[in-house]
Amino acid sequence: MIILIVGGSGGIGQALVKRFASEQPKAQIYATYRTTKPNIESSHIHWVELDASREEDVRALAKQLPNVDMLINATGLLHTPDKLPEKSIQEFDPDFFNENLKANTLPTLLLAKHFAKALKAKQTTYFVALSARIGSISDNQLGGWISYRSAKAALNMALKTISIEWRYKLPNCCVLAFHPGTTDTALSVPFQKNVPPGKLFTADFVAQSLIDLIQSKQASDSGGFYSYDGSAITW
Ligand SMILES: NC(=O)c1ccc[n+]([C@@H]2O[C@H](COP(=O)([O-])OP(=O)(O)OC[C@H]3O[C@@H](n4cnc5c(N)ncnc54)[C@H](OP(=O)(O)O)[C@@H]3O)[C@@H](O)[C@H]2O)c1
Repeated sequence: MIILIVGGSGGIGQALVKRFASEQPKAQIYATYRTTKPNIESSHIHWVELDASREEDVRALAKQLPNVDMLINATGLLHTPDKLPEKSIQEFDPDFFNENLKANTLPTLLLAKHFAKALKAKQTTYFVALSARIGSISDNQLGGWISYRSAKAALNMALKTISIEWRYKLPNCCVLAFHPGTTDTALSVPFQKNVPPGKLFTADFVAQSLIDLIQSKQASDSGGFYSYDGSAITW
């Protein structure tokens, strides 16, 4: 089995690499990092430097991996060193909006384009992206965080659209959007004080929840948006 974890250097990405490495000792795990290579080593973990928003990087990796059983994209961005998500449209900044699209939406589109061939197989394959409930239009009660929300809504639309196209072209591929819940990683640090008790998950718990979800889904479930507890989220 070949597993590719894009954004394997992130909080959830690293937990996925460790979990898969212990649960699937026969799998070859390819994991990507952009800036710093994590110190997780094993003979079946292969680290690759990749900027998932650069098409030439994604194309080059796809050339190296002609067959992939499971591709999980765990890249994303909520804040930068000098920008927090917007509380009001008055704080909207075009550069921050574009950074959000580049980190939260673009990588999944490039990965789908270049890995479609690798995911086409007789057995079930998986194409999964880490999304967020906040990207659900029907679930939006609070407003705010407009760049992140919009980028995740665009990601959700991209995943739904890819799942429809692949229903015929890659009938054995299951395309899923996954909401991890608030997870204790660098991404959520500025917002953790508002999280109700018991609702800040460890990255390890979330990685296991995603692995359990994948194991419970088949190609006929393609095009779904699921939460860490396995419940479906409306688009
Ligand atoms: N943590 C939460 O509470 C939470 C809640 C809902 C949804 N999510 C989603 O879950 C996913 C993982 O988040 P996380 O909590 O693990 O965040 P994280 O620890 O901040 O990790 C995000 C990773 O994305 C990588 N990345 C960003 N842009 C990239 C690019 N163009 N190419 C390659 N890598 C890129 C970053 O790499 P560098 O470090 O090299 O920049 C970083 O390793 C994200 O999609 C996030 O939106 C998280």
